[in-house]
Amino acid sequence: MTINLTPEQLEIVQGLMQTPAAVSPKYFYDAKGSALFEDITRLPEYYPTRTEQAIMSEHAPAIAQAIGTHCTVIELGAGNCQKARALCELIQPIGYVAVDISEAFLQDAVAGMRLAFPNLAIHALAVDLTASVELPASLPTQRRLVFYPGSSIGNFDPPQAQALLSRMRALLQDDGALLIGVDLVKDSAVLHAAYDDAAGITADFNLNVLNHLNRLIGSDFDVTQWQHLAFFNAEQSRIEMHLQARVDLVVRWPGASRAFARGERIHTENSYKYRVEDFVEMLRRSGLPHTQVWTDAKRWFAVVLARP
Ligand SMILES: C[S@@+](CC[C@H](N)C(=O)[O-])C[C@H]1O[C@@H](n2cnc3c(N)ncnc32)[C@H](O)[C@@H]1O
Repeated sequence: MTINLTPEQLEIVQGLMQTPAAVSPKYFYDAKGSALFEDITRLPEYYPTRTEQAIMSEHAPAIAQAIGTHCTVIELGAGNCQKARALCELIQPIGYVAVDISEAFLQDAVAGMRLAFPNLAIHALAVDLTASVELPASLPTQRRLVFYPGSSIGNFDPPQAQALLSRMRALLQDDGALLIGVDLVKDSAVLHAAYDDAAGITADFNLNVLNHLNRLIGSDFDVTQWQHLAFFNAEQSRIEMHLQARVDLVVRWPGASRAFARGERIHTENSYKYRVEDFVEMLRRSGLPHTQVWTDAKRWFAVVLARP
């Protein structure tokens, strides 16, 4: 029997069949995964969201002045659009495009934005930002601001991150800018706690990817057979999240199966932590050499405005 796989299914199956197995973190985000991520942002251990928001509010006048007026904001990985709300109140843009892979969650969030900003031209694009993003033809090409908060850039290996930043640059004319949040290198105990919280919400978020895969490829992952694992890999300057098999097991899906020995892992996420100077250099190599950087007092997180 021949099984025709969609490109998405093929990507997932190829990742599961490799050794060690891996799944892209974009598959965390079904509706439940998006809601769990929202819960994570409220955890005491999860400093990135709070710290980024505090930087944005403490430096609001300087950020607003640096961005200027009459922008069209294109937010990548918009999630619940909470950070866009604050930004739109601050800079009063003329348009807003929310891009996110998690379609139902995105539509809800954008409905909230439409209520909050009835006079703003708002678009929702439920697409994978790692593929080419087709912006609405009506979107102004001048004064675009690509907004990529949450340090999601850290989910990409540095060469992939640089390629993605170059693609963001390509969305901008010379009068455009990128406003991006970046998580910085810090004490590994702080990092561990942020990705392995006491209440187990990050564990639920990590494990939920298996339920999502079951729906996407028809697999029979049993979540109870897997364990959440998160640690800081200092050599690579990244948090790694994995799912580790609790027992010897076999996962089946139409057309194939994969045996996992007890202790074997599926790599589900990297979250790279940068030094400001290294990230600024990456922006420069991506065609965005003019940067302004704002950080918190502990230098745990940075918000960077980068221009061509
Ligand atoms: C870490 S959350 C950040 C959410 C929000 N921007 C924030 O800062 O709180 C990542 C967001 O990006 C979305 N996302 C992840 N991978 C994506 C992809 N490849 N294409 C589009 N959206 C993606 C997720 O659905 C999620 O809403």
